[in-house]
Amino acid sequence: MDKIIYPLNRLKGEIAVPGDKSISHRAVMFGAIAEGDTHITGFLDSADCLSTISCFEKMGIRFEKDLSQKSVIVHGQGLHGLKKPAEILYTGNSGTTTRLISGILAGQNFASVLDGDASIRKRPMRRIMEPLQRMGAAIVSAHGNDCAPLHISPAALHAIAYASPVSSAQVKSCILLAGLYADGRTSVTEKALSRNHTELMLSGFGAQVSSQKTAPGWTASILPASRLNACAVRVPGDISSAAYFIAAALIVPGSEVLIGNVGINPTRSGILKAARDMGAQIEVLNSRTEGGEPACDLLVRASSLHGITIAGDLIPTLIDELPVLAVLAAYADGTTIIRDAAELRVKESDRIASTTQALRQMGVRVTPTEDGMIIEGGAPVHGALVDSCMDHRIAMSMAVCGLAADGETTIRDAECVDISYPSFFSDLSSLTR
Ligand code: S3P
Repeated sequence: MDKIIYPLNRLKGEIAVPGDKSISHRAVMFGAIAEGDTHITGFLDSADCLSTISCFEKMGIRFEKDLSQKSVIVHGQGLHGLKKPAEILYTGNSGTTTRLISGILAGQNFASVLDGDASIRKRPMRRIMEPLQRMGAAIVSAHGNDCAPLHISPAALHAIAYASPVSSAQVKSCILLAGLYADGRTSVTEKALSRNHTELMLSGFGAQVSSQKTAPGWTASILPASRLNACAVRVPGDISSAAYFIAAALIVPGSEVLIGNVGINPTRSGILKAARDMGAQIEVLNSRTEGGEPACDLLVRASSLHGITIAGDLIPTLIDELPVLAVLAAYADGTTIIRDAAELRVKESDRIASTTQALRQMGVRVTPTEDGMIIEGGAPVHGALVDSCMDHRIAMSMAVCGLAADGETTIRDAECVDISYPSFFSDLSSLTR
């Protein structure tokens, strides 16, 4: 589906973004291996999270879904209560599902096969296979290319202390989940702290998990568990979805948007820091805790922006927001440099290539680098036909870019927004009326 975006005079009003994708995935997974019923409210009913539910349904977990109410009840069967799936576990487009579930499957007494769509089949799985194999797991890549499909067979798991070469919450979470089934304390050290929803939520489910700053970076540890206890999970709004409205309100002159109930876990809220460093006027209102996670309302006003450097430990805290930050950079005066973000190359698309290509189509001067990009902002941006590369975050970022551009922008394959934000375009129109 092509989606046409017209330039706007201003964006005004209030919006509540859907539930956090990372937290929704985890609530389903941890609920499935806990004992008792986990009640999830604010659940994100996007394609990725539904892939996670479908994998657990294939392993005998029953869900009561009232998706119009964003409510899901997971009837957990305990750490050893999953059933051998009769078919391949299909993870769709979801890296989070594929990598986290691998940690759980490595600890089961049955064999399983994981596979996903064309994008998943290209994404690197060595990063989880290697630590899992060190733990004794029997996990192999069916085509010998370190990508999905993955075959996982039963094996006894040993605790390891793993120094992760990437600061990735998916890698960290996979190992911690396998650690629930291991024979001692398992730890993962990463150089910069990646999102810590797994640590926070597993602790709420009764696991003994801790995280601390260490000399090489951050270390998360977990002890093997005899059980997890079901609990209620209130999912806050996803800051990665809010990011599009933050950016839109900043670049469309005269805008003022209130975004309600946004999760602002410090391991996720790097966009607020980066945008403010660029000159953004963003007010944090009604700070509170929502389901064990910090949340607030955000009031965003159109602002004049200037270029900055985005690099270092900040990168994991805004990794999914870099395409939309590149859009902000296009509308900012001066140069923005994004560095230390080579991980962008292995997301749903190669986001250095896809962002660069899309921005160039709209007249932006942008140079890709090995681990980021350099954007010369402040020049006129014009509408164009842009390729989403079937990547939800590129589609939404470029839609935002089109709102302040000169002329119409057409987003190709715009339906890919369903991966994380099915109501994105209707929510956007609600602010333009
Ligand atoms: C996620 C972690 C991040 C992020 C992804 C969701 C998660 O990936 O890009 O969208 O839920 O753990 P990495 O852990 O690979 O950086």
